[in-house]
Amino acid sequence: MDMSLASLLYPLIKPLLFRMDAEAAHELTTRMMRVTHSLGILGREAVVDGPPVSVMGLNFPNRLGLAAGMDKSAAAVDAWSKLGFGIVEVGTLTPRPQPGNPKPRLFRLPEHRGLINRMGFNNPGIHKAVERLRNRRAKSVVGVNIGKNFDTPNEKAVEDYLFCLRATYDVADYVAVNISSPNTKGLRDLQSENAIRSLLIAVRSEQGTLKEKTGRMVPIVVKIAPDLTCEGISDLVRVFNEVGVDGVIATNTTIDHSGVHPHRFANEIGGLSGEPVRTRSNEVLAVFRAGLRPEIPLIGVGGIVSGADAAEKRRLGADLVQIYSGLVFRGPSLIAEATQMLLDSQGI
Ligand SMILES: Cc1cc2nc3c(=O)[nH]c(=O)nc-3n(C[C@H](O)[C@H](O)[C@H](O)COP(=O)(O)O)c2cc1C
Repeated sequence: MDMSLASLLYPLIKPLLFRMDAEAAHELTTRMMRVTHSLGILGREAVVDGPPVSVMGLNFPNRLGLAAGMDKSAAAVDAWSKLGFGIVEVGTLTPRPQPGNPKPRLFRLPEHRGLINRMGFNNPGIHKAVERLRNRRAKSVVGVNIGKNFDTPNEKAVEDYLFCLRATYDVADYVAVNISSPNTKGLRDLQSENAIRSLLIAVRSEQGTLKEKTGRMVPIVVKIAPDLTCEGISDLVRVFNEVGVDGVIATNTTIDHSGVHPHRFANEIGGLSGEPVRTRSNEVLAVFRAGLRPEIPLIGVGGIVSGADAAEKRRLGADLVQIYSGLVFRGPSLIAEATQMLLDSQGI
């Protein structure tokens, strides 16, 4: 397979990055990407784009996305797009800027190809991101993932989501409502039947108003946790089918660390991602596919570390897929591998 410069370099610099603190390595990589992109030397991965894929009324250059959390502040959207992602989801963004949890808050578990994070929505605030997105040139579809500030009580959470939806409506291609991060106290309680129903009714109604005002329909998707009970999943499926939603992202990170014991970081508080979450994410994806109205698309995320994993999500019913942890362990060559496998499995 044709290899880009980034794919060739990553195996060389990975040992150095892995010797650094995980968050510092992340910041350094992002900076390198921005610099190489602005110098025009960030090569495109050997991504083979097939015909554009139409989902939620949007045209995607391919089915592979960068999951939320990698570019929380929309700092390098054009560079991510250049690497070959058909979708770049930025955020999570909150109404006001916030620093997130104290460091260290990101841990690598290379033996499991997993990460544990308790970042806590560190972000520069929705307005800063919107400003940056106005200047983007990316041909990727850009999703804006929104959440609530850590100090906003759940009773007022709806206001935070509406604030972010209004702020971002004219620059986002789609908006992802994140109610599934384990690192903001009480956030996942918004997945309970009554809470999600009122939240969804409110954002759908605002979406209608904004559509009238702007003449643009921006799809709204909801991102869910893998740690839902069977009953919790049935409740969500019922609400999504009744109130209507433009798509569902399954899944966020898991608080179940049983698969990584006795790793020295296994007891770190936070969400576990990468290979250890794959089986559960896939189960949740399949159950949602079985229960959701067929016209509601699914975005599959959690544990993709190979092209075959991406194709597996597709087989289980995902219209689009996203990656985060796999990129840390495999580097940018995973982008070309996954887009190719997704293309090959197009008909499935
Ligand atoms: C360090 C880190 C930060 C994350 N931040 C966010 C976030 O801000 N919002 C969000 O919706 N998901 C966030 N995620 C979750 C990912 O988007 C994804 O759902 C999860 O990691 C599973 O995918 P993966 O196994 O490919 O990493 C984060 C994940 C990691 C590892």
